[in-house]
Amino acid sequence: MARAPQPAARPGTEVAPGKSPNPDTLTVTDNRTGRSYEIPIQDGTIRALDLRKIKTGPDDFGLMTYDPAFTNSAACRSKITMIDGDRGILNYRGYPIEQLAEHSTYLETAYLILYGELPSRQQYDEWVYNITHHTIMHENLKQFIEGFRYDAHPMGMLISTVAALSTFYKEASQIFDPASRRSQQFRLIAKMPTLAAFAYRHSVGLPYAYPDNDLSYTGNFLNMLFKMTEVKYRPNPVIERALDVLFILHADHEQNCSTSAMRGVGSSHVDPYSAVAAAVAALYGPLHGGANEMVLRMLREIGSKGRIPEYIKRVKEGQVLLMGFGHRVYKNYDPRARIIKQIADQVFEVTGPNPLLDIALELERIALQDDYFVQRKLYPNVDFYSGLIYQSLRFPVEMFPVLFAIPRTAGWLAQWEEMLLDPEQKIARPRQIYTGPARRDYVAMEDRV
Ligand code: ACO
Repeated sequence: MARAPQPAARPGTEVAPGKSPNPDTLTVTDNRTGRSYEIPIQDGTIRALDLRKIKTGPDDFGLMTYDPAFTNSAACRSKITMIDGDRGILNYRGYPIEQLAEHSTYLETAYLILYGELPSRQQYDEWVYNITHHTIMHENLKQFIEGFRYDAHPMGMLISTVAALSTFYKEASQIFDPASRRSQQFRLIAKMPTLAAFAYRHSVGLPYAYPDNDLSYTGNFLNMLFKMTEVKYRPNPVIERALDVLFILHADHEQNCSTSAMRGVGSSHVDPYSAVAAAVAALYGPLHGGANEMVLRMLREIGSKGRIPEYIKRVKEGQVLLMGFGHRVYKNYDPRARIIKQIADQVFEVTGPNPLLDIALELERIALQDDYFVQRKLYPNVDFYSGLIYQSLRFPVEMFPVLFAIPRTAGWLAQWEEMLLDPEQKIARPRQIYTGPARRDYVAMEDRV
């Protein structure tokens, strides 16, 4: 039966003894003082600031929550991506990832993520035109790339060069000007593949291949990576589509580490290039976007199916992680991993089988039957198979996290704009519990023991 609407409780209101509490509240009794408080519950959350009213006396700062790594704290309201980790659901703006992977293109999905709705034909054509006509980068940027050693990691190059873009587009600091925000969004989505491809060509000593406006977003990226002496590069349509679907799967993933970095750094009102550089840096780590690179290294280290039990034993002893397994949110399965497995089959039909695939499949089979992984709800995540596809497409492992950063740029930008326009947001500034020494006086060096 529907419940009659209740008057909202005042935040952190102290409850008078004997009064029945509002049902949409949490009643908290502070056993230090014996006082009870009614805290409003909205959308399954309480406001941390409402706890501040709970004090032992006028000098008490008030209660805080302690949530290292933000495992149970919502930091924003967002309309962009919905994940139900227990049921393995991922929707962008309400559309299931499976439907987007089947019917959409990466650029259409990027539009959806940024603007909230699927584009009309005219909106889509304009959007694609704008992205396509921002792919060329300033020639000076090549000098930054040339300054790196031949074996520099492309993520390091990407972090630096994307940050450097802010020095080329000074109006990017006008973050509250919608037209300026729009221009930087076109530029960032358009230029990330160019920066990435130039970093790759630098690392293998090939001359840079410039963007080709006749090609699709992923077709052009393949062109800038792999074009040799041919007059016109023609991407294999199966590979072009596979990469496009991989980009769709990676376009956003709500408040993960790199998105939180984008929002956190962006909350200081810095320009979006600097904030994206911070997000790329967060993605670089082996526990986040660096994991697909680590999966490949792990599969190579295992080397054969016969050595899998030995590796699993080391995982269970806590010596190593099973890379590509486990997720902070998905505790049942990662819906992206399921789609990627299908793409892998299509790609291997073109490229030939990947010898590491047999090891990966066997590793997955053994792990999914093992109590250690079952009890901890550890399933393959998006990175478990994506690395095998990238390897078959001739990408060196160092490029794997770059292939994650390119499509995630759309998500970062959408989350950044949502944060900027949210009147409840301020500069991100967590609290701490101080555990260091109490106040003490400076001791001269000769008097120290
Ligand atoms: N291999 C072995 N054990 C694992 C793994 C793993 N891959 N992942 C988690 N565990 C264990 C933990 O040691 C812990 O065990 P315990 O309860 O005995 O201490 C338990 O499972 C729970 O794990 P948490 O660390 O609490 O899980 P959390 O949500 O903090 O970590 C993470 C999630 C970082 C993804 C983790 O599973 C991991 O390190 N996986 C490997 C790296 C990886 O694949 N990252 C990609 C993530 S997807 C993405 O970023 C796109």
